Amino acid sequence: MSTATEVSFPDGFLWGAATSSYQVEGAVREDGRSPSIWDTLCRVPGAIRDGDTGDTADDHYHRHRDDVALMSSVGLQAYRFSVAWPRILPAGRGQANQSGLDFYRRLTDELLAAGIEPFLTLYHWDLPQVLQDAGGWPARDTARRFADYAAVVFEALHDRVRYWTTLNEPWCSSLLGYADGIHAPGIRDPRQATAAIHHLLLGHGLAVQAMRAIDASRHVGLVLNLQPIRAADADPTPTLLDGVRRMDGLRNRAWTEPLFLGRYPQDVADDLQAFGGLPVQAGDLGIIEAPLDFLGVNYYADGFLVSAPGATIPHTPGLQDVGGSQAGPGATDMGWPVTPDGLRDLLVTLKATYPDLPPVYITENGVAYDDPLIDGAIHDSRRIAYLDSHLRALSAAIESGVDVRGYFCWSLLDNFEWSHGYSMRFGIIHVDFETQERTPRDSAWWYRDVIVRNGLTAAEG
Ligand code: FCB
Repeated sequence: MSTATEVSFPDGFLWGAATSSYQVEGAVREDGRSPSIWDTLCRVPGAIRDGDTGDTADDHYHRHRDDVALMSSVGLQAYRFSVAWPRILPAGRGQANQSGLDFYRRLTDELLAAGIEPFLTLYHWDLPQVLQDAGGWPARDTARRFADYAAVVFEALHDRVRYWTTLNEPWCSSLLGYADGIHAPGIRDPRQATAAIHHLLLGHGLAVQAMRAIDASRHVGLVLNLQPIRAADADPTPTLLDGVRRMDGLRNRAWTEPLFLGRYPQDVADDLQAFGGLPVQAGDLGIIEAPLDFLGVNYYADGFLVSAPGATIPHTPGLQDVGGSQAGPGATDMGWPVTPDGLRDLLVTLKATYPDLPPVYITENGVAYDDPLIDGAIHDSRRIAYLDSHLRALSAAIESGVDVRGYFCWSLLDNFEWSHGYSMRFGIIHVDFETQERTPRDSAWWYRDVIVRNGLTAAEG
């Protein structure tokens, strides 16, 4: 951990916690919701650890009132959640499902009554299965369907929701979903992943247009999981350095350059020629680069690569003789290293690279550690140390001039961690998945003090 001096955040800094629909809601067959691609993947033998599914998850669909009360007790100022597309447009198009919209009306009303700012994500990976059957993100029409869906939700909720994000982590939707296959829809085809990259960005741009046409006074952005990619070998070979370039290209620049410079990086576009090329049509980049009110950044850890003759990494098509490494200090239950300085470096570099960078919110940051529940308490000092060190790095980035307006810890609750099922516990609040009992961990109370103080004391962590 860096030096533990007192740290204050700017006035008005927004403190929150985040979840997403499929990871917490459950109630997958209720009130007209149709299956999403994650419901389908969860039925594929071996796809999810222990055969877990999101069928019940945290039962947040039924317990949202109690969960909002818990948020209040932790002192949250904002709650980042996502809307399940298959609750709103079960057929992927056509008539909106009023009971789906009503759930999010109830949730946002409760948040507002509790003085908690709703921070809404339109797409956190639960594509209606009917739209996957029609081609999914590799199909251009899905971008149009997304804009239509965005307009329906915005029309219903823009009176009460001020902060809107289109996509969560489109790198995952495209490259984990269609190239690596570890995420839904579980496809391993780099050509489909390449097309999905562009159609996700196009869908984002069209959704922004659709929302601004209804009410331009709302804050609209998107969320990227950006990550410094580093060579872990002491004396990196040219192959390894080229691997770093490729992975940085797909993970970071393929998203930030179209959004903030209005073009794809030439090297990334060239690399992707081997997989059919990016299906860009005239006018698309102008739609994608429309200025945003904010950028959401999700950060967990830096990425490390090593020379590994013969190896490939499926989510980075074309990468050869390079492997991932867990090098770096510490290791969380996910196997990720703990690299807080990477958050500062990432933000400072972003600002230096893109002079027009909009204000930033850290929309996810957190860690999976499973500490025991003893006598009603969970002493998760490692999570507190992780959060403390990342907040210090964030403060350093703000000090050096990056305009960061808020921070959301991932996650409010332990939840369905995708292919890991319920085995990874990211919550500041523990969930017993048998009884649905919630127990705040020490980190929740520590976070409440951070929020009250709008900063960290010298003794934190
Ligand atoms: C991010 C996802 C989020 C959660 C965390 C651990 O990539 O956005 O849903 O799974 O990782």
